[in-house]
Amino acid sequence: EKGTYPHYMLKEIDEQPAVLRKIIQAYQDENGKLSIDQETLEAINRADRIYVIAAGTSYHAGLVGKEYFEKLAGVPTEVHISSEFGYNMPLLSEKPLFVFISQSGETADSRQVLVKIKELGYPSLTVTNVPGSTLSREADHTVLLHAGPEIAVASTKAYTAQVAVLAILAALAAGEKGNEIGFDLVQELGIAANAVQTMIVRKEEMEGLSFDFLELSRNAFFIGRGLDYFVSLEGALKLKEISYIQAEGFAGGELKHGTIALIEEGTPVFALATQEAVSPNIRGNVKEVGARGAKSCIISMEGIEEEGDRIVIPAVHPMLTPLVSVIPLQLISYYAALHRGCDVDKPRNLAKSVTVE
Ligand code: M6R
Repeated sequence: EKGTYPHYMLKEIDEQPAVLRKIIQAYQDENGKLSIDQETLEAINRADRIYVIAAGTSYHAGLVGKEYFEKLAGVPTEVHISSEFGYNMPLLSEKPLFVFISQSGETADSRQVLVKIKELGYPSLTVTNVPGSTLSREADHTVLLHAGPEIAVASTKAYTAQVAVLAILAALAAGEKGNEIGFDLVQELGIAANAVQTMIVRKEEMEGLSFDFLELSRNAFFIGRGLDYFVSLEGALKLKEISYIQAEGFAGGELKHGTIALIEEGTPVFALATQEAVSPNIRGNVKEVGARGAKSCIISMEGIEEEGDRIVIPAVHPMLTPLVSVIPLQLISYYAALHRGCDVDKPRNLAKSVTVE
């Protein structure tokens, strides 16, 4: 039930700190150490390469997950859009593990891949919010998101839950391999949950920014580099699906290879700059689009912020910024849709779970 909330989407955005805390609890043993069932862990550890299969928002979480599996656990990882995988199956490694990421566990495009790889005899793991869902029943292993029912078509809390759970899986895999990840993930996830809490309290400010940047726009761009690039894809998807504003997320470096031609006087550009190493480059992009009239909203992080940044998220571990930087983007999209009179929870032409191929 959405209770006093006008929309499920807003309620689900608000639930994110609690969801993150629940996940931290769910994947801790009695000694406070991260843990999952042994069989699932062994399946991950047997793999010489992980193939993540997902669609939409879950695909965007998968892109973040690739960073975790590769950087924390040292397991080569590929992320594939489910609907493309069938036709574009890459050459597989010797011991692949297929990881299906799906909030609903019912996405037909992903299931089609699961059926195929099972025929080929490969092991599978589903990361889902719905126990007993098709992808969960049919895969060898299941890891749950513990996000509670997500009703709004636009996925919010499932995304942050997916990112957190993927970080946990990667850290566990690293531990098994004797790799030090170099930080205390439980503690850092707790810090991130608090940062998410701080951001959801800033609704009025986000509503104001949404109005300032999007009230009169037909289009909007989201840019980032590294992890910020993946969040920019998610920000653009959120905005387009609920407000119908044409939005594109792309890597900052790609601007000059085409998209910059679209920048006009007043074009809104949301630029994510939470990654210290590439922050100067993204700020350079902001200057380039600014010189052509764009109106930029920089989203940075405490510690690396600069004067004029419109949104500064609290400091969190650099690998966990997607959990926090996505919150203002979710809220800005929500208010853009609201002010345009859109049906926020049930956008046109979309279904919550896409059970047709
Ligand atoms: O249930 P799934 O995670 O498999 O769904 C995948 C996509 O259909 C879903 O994430 C979709 O993109 C959302 N509407 C995005 O908000």
